[in-house]
Formats: sequence, C-alpha cells, structure tokens
Amino acid sequence: MSLTKRRVMSGMRPTGPLHLGHLVGVLTQWETYSENDDAFFEIADLHAYTTEFANPSMVRDAREAMVAVWLAAGVDPQRSTIFLQSGVPEIAELQALLSMITPVSWLERAPTYKGQIEALGANIATYGFLGYPLLQLCDIAVVRGQYVPVGRDQVAHLELGREIVRRFNHLYGEGREILVEPQPTLSEFPEVPGIDGRKMSKSYGNAILISDDEDTTTTKVRAMITDPLKVRRGDPGRPEICPVFALWRFVNPLRLDAIAAECRSGALGCVQDKSDFAEQLNAYLRPVRERYAQYCRDPETLRRVIAEGTARTREIAAQTLRDVKHAMKLIP
Ligand code: TRP
Repeated sequence: MSLTKRRVMSGMRPTGPLHLGHLVGVLTQWETYSENDDAFFEIADLHAYTTEFANPSMVRDAREAMVAVWLAAGVDPQRSTIFLQSGVPEIAELQALLSMITPVSWLERAPTYKGQIEALGANIATYGFLGYPLLQLCDIAVVRGQYVPVGRDQVAHLELGREIVRRFNHLYGEGREILVEPQPTLSEFPEVPGIDGRKMSKSYGNAILISDDEDTTTTKVRAMITDPLKVRRGDPGRPEICPVFALWRFVNPLRLDAIAAECRSGALGCVQDKSDFAEQLNAYLRPVRERYAQYCRDPETLRRVIAEGTARTREIAAQTLRDVKHAMKLIP
C-alpha cells in the first residue's frame, strides 16, 4: 500500500437486508474507494444497537449478510479493510475519553437526534443514542480517517465530530494535531425511489432487495406506481415523475432517451415498460446476486475477511489510543 494514498473511512449499520439503493448509491462508490484509496469499511453494529437494542439476533444475522453484499458489489477485501466495530474495543475506549469534552448540548443539537425520536418514539432516547455522533467520530478517529463518504443526512454528524477533534487538539495537543479532522465527501447521487415512489428504504417496505429472487423482483416491479394520469397505453406519460423511469437510469442509461420519447408519445404503455424493466433489472442484478449467494454459502470466507480486517484495524487503533492517552497525561 503506497504511503501517498488517502485514508477513506465509512460505515454501515447492520439493521436488515441491503437493497438496490445501497448498491447503486453507496456500494459502487465503495468499490472505487477500495481500488484507489486506503479504505476502511466498518460494520457499525454498535450503532445498530442504538435503535435495535431489543433485536440482537437480527443485528447478528445482518452482519455477515451485509458484508456478503459488499463483496458481491465489488468491494475488494485485499485492497481495503473491512472491520467489525464491536471487535475494536479501542473505539469504545476513545468514546469514553472524548465524552469528557463533549458538551451534551452539542449532541442534543444534532438534527438526527430529535428527528429520530419523533419518528421512532421516546424509547430510543438513550444515553447511547444521544452519543451516536460521538461514537461515529471515534470510528473515524481511531483509524485517522481523512475522508468520509456519507450521505447528506450525515454531514451534521461529521461537523460535530470535527468540533470535538478541534476541542481535543486545542486542550491536549500543545500545538500539535493529535486527532485528524475528518472531511465529509458528499456523494452527489440522485435519490433512488422505491416501488411506491418514496425513497427506497427497508423501513418503508418499498425496497427491491439484493436477496430477492427474480420472481419476487418481477412481482415488485409490476406493482410499481407510474404516472397516475397515464391510465392506458396511448395516453401521454410524464417520465420525470415516474419511479420506473428513475430506476431505468441505473439499469440501462443508454435507453433513457428512447423510453422517455415513447412514454411521452403514448407508444409505450406502463405495463410493457415495467415488464421490460423487470427483465433488465434482473439481468443487471444477476451477477451481484450470484456472487452474493456464493458468499452466503461460504461463511468461513466472510468470517476470515472480517477477522483479518478487524485485527488490522485494532493495531492502528491501539496506536491512536496510546497517542490520545499520552496527550491526556493518562500514560507517560
Ligand atoms: N451513521 C452512518 C449512517 O447511518 C453509519 C456510520 C457509522 C458511519 N459509523 C460511521 C459512516 C463512520 C461514516 C463513518 O449512514
């Protein structure tokens, strides 16, 4: 690994099966980072527990299935590091140390905190959930991550993390940068709609899963909403408001202009379009699904990839913790 490669770090919570939105929105980028950068990808199981603390078996099962999709999508475990958050206890130790200098008011101000409590109910308002952005910073800081590819909703967490790093370096650094201020790299990716037209999300029940078989996929595509004013073939349609059209972009961008023209003129009906799309979507997903099934049949390989990456991450994290404790005068 060359010394000039930048260190990229990102994570995903194992809270359920991955879907088309993860694949085209996040994992195609992770594949590129794994090829070009010194990239760390984290199974954020502790973050999963902030909301799923009552479902430990679900989180446990989701861990390896999630990594199977990462690898199937092309994330290269030879050139990048895949690790388990709870397998790196230095992250939790750093969180305890940094909690001393993290004002509660900063955490309460995170837009996700109040928003998620409104969405999911007050029973997730735990100490751990309040500390979610601090834990996220610790994930990044233990490996000295410089660039953090995240979605727009995570930028506030990164900003909070940068403030904590600045405060730490100011208090204990004696003019030196002990912890690295991480930069978000915003993934400008168009939103991937689900079969009901809302953002594709497991919790909305509108997702096309990597683990779905082809018949299930076809059934879901047939149930997709389209332009409600286009009732039958011959009626002019509006591709710009149609979620099937939005998904075509990922599956066959070369056909977009032709489909838009035929939809607008009325020559192409929604039933035909969805049947064409289901076929092409299944063809697009087939190699990923085949590799996913292979990894699922080979849990030994998954476990080895995770164990090796976690051991490697621990070595780096231990050095960071030594530097932090030394700066805090906890150790000589
Ligand atoms: N909070 C992130 C999300 O929900 C997941 C995550 C956990 C993460 N730790 C991270 C992302 C560290 C980037 C870096 O998407």
